[in-house]
Amino acid sequence: LTVAVLISGTGSNLRALLDAARHPDFPARIVVVGADRDAEGLAHAEEFGIPSFTVPFRSFESREAWGEELGRQLDTWQPDLIVLSGLMRLLPASLVARYAPRIINTHPAYLPEFPGAHGVRDAITAGAAQTGASVIVVDDGVDSGPILAQERIPVQPGDTEQTLHERIKPVERRLLIDVVRRIATGDLALTH
Ligand code: GRF
Repeated sequence: LTVAVLISGTGSNLRALLDAARHPDFPARIVVVGADRDAEGLAHAEEFGIPSFTVPFRSFESREAWGEELGRQLDTWQPDLIVLSGLMRLLPASLVARYAPRIINTHPAYLPEFPGAHGVRDAITAGAAQTGASVIVVDDGVDSGPILAQERIPVQPGDTEQTLHERIKPVERRLLIDVVRRIATGDLALTH
């Protein structure tokens, strides 16, 4: 299974995938890493000798135009699966339509709780006693697609967005690697 990973940030989840994919018995291969900005995480791709591309959102007139260029880049690689791993940008419906349901996303909350760009902060603001991590199929909503895997994570008293997020990420990585493995082996079928 060939995989394209899209990021916006530090790419710690990407790095976990790269590490997992290094093992010869891992059934998926990361063929390209893409970003919507000059993301720190692109350094992981370079370190692992994986090609990467950047399609800077702010260089385009519209989300649609940005999505078209992103689609052109992805078409070069024809990935079997696209993993959004810390991509902090909604894909235009036209791009989702072209690749669905072969796009999955990791989210640092127990969806459908706390969707959107601030899931960790929202859990703290809500005073939630627990939150979680989820891996979902991307549809044209916001974090609203079918849930492939998720796990509950406790919120500790005194947690900040940062401490809670650091507790969530390792769980996200484990779920993501397991979901990619199960998709690659055919054990998990992607549905719309
Ligand atoms: C992850 O928790 C991801 O789910 C969320 O942003 C974080 C990105 O972290 N969208 P990183 O860039 O993988 O370190």
